[in-house]
Amino acid sequence: MGRLPRWGKVAAAGGVVLAGVTISQRVKPLPCPYALRWMTDIPRPYLTRRKVVEILEAQPGERALEVGPGPGYHTFAVAERLEPGGELHVFDIQQKMLDALMQRAAKRGVDNVVPRQGDARRLPYADDSFDAALLVTVLGEIPGQEAALRELHRVIRAGGRVVVGETPALDPHFVRFPVLRRRAEEAGFRFEHRMGPGLAFLARFRRD
Ligand SMILES: C[S@@+](CC[C@H](N)C(=O)[O-])C[C@H]1O[C@@H](n2cnc3c(N)ncnc32)[C@H](O)[C@@H]1O
Repeated sequence: MGRLPRWGKVAAAGGVVLAGVTISQRVKPLPCPYALRWMTDIPRPYLTRRKVVEILEAQPGERALEVGPGPGYHTFAVAERLEPGGELHVFDIQQKMLDALMQRAAKRGVDNVVPRQGDARRLPYADDSFDAALLVTVLGEIPGQEAALRELHRVIRAGGRVVVGETPALDPHFVRFPVLRRRAEEAGFRFEHRMGPGLAFLARFRRD
């Protein structure tokens, strides 16, 4: 370190801090801080609104659930696809995220988004109550991904689908595809389709 130029020391210190944050977030994950919600508005490769809508196959009149929407990067594109007659329920552990999302909904005149606060490991919805569910860069933030996947399996009707999006870009909680697939299958889902490479993907599972 003694012979490194000043910028090299700063870069090395930054690398150490980043590695520390990544390790601690993987061992003991925490929800994305509200103050960093702006990061979810940065477009991420493959996790685009268009691809999310495409793989979710949302239909007019359906009742869908988005877990961990944050301030709603994907929410409105999905909600629009459910019109007319459909609803998108948004469920987040942070009430402030939901408040920010609902402010955006009001500005856009979107009226088919229904918020509820809570923990994805205990969903406050009846069995078989959704046609589809969506989680983009959320699963890794939940300490107990297996419990969250079991809950999703419970609330999605037979024949319904769940789409999970993951990327390590700007996210220390990245869940690799083989790990996701194993956990989803253990929860009772059947893997159906994946869009994107291993480092930025959307995967669709079906509840048979
Ligand atoms: C990184 S943000 C992703 C936001 C959005 N899905 C996107 O891709 O732009 C993760 C979101 O998941 C929420 N979250 C984390 N743990 C959760 C849990 N146990 N139950 C429900 N939501 C949770 C966080 O509060 C946050 O809003």
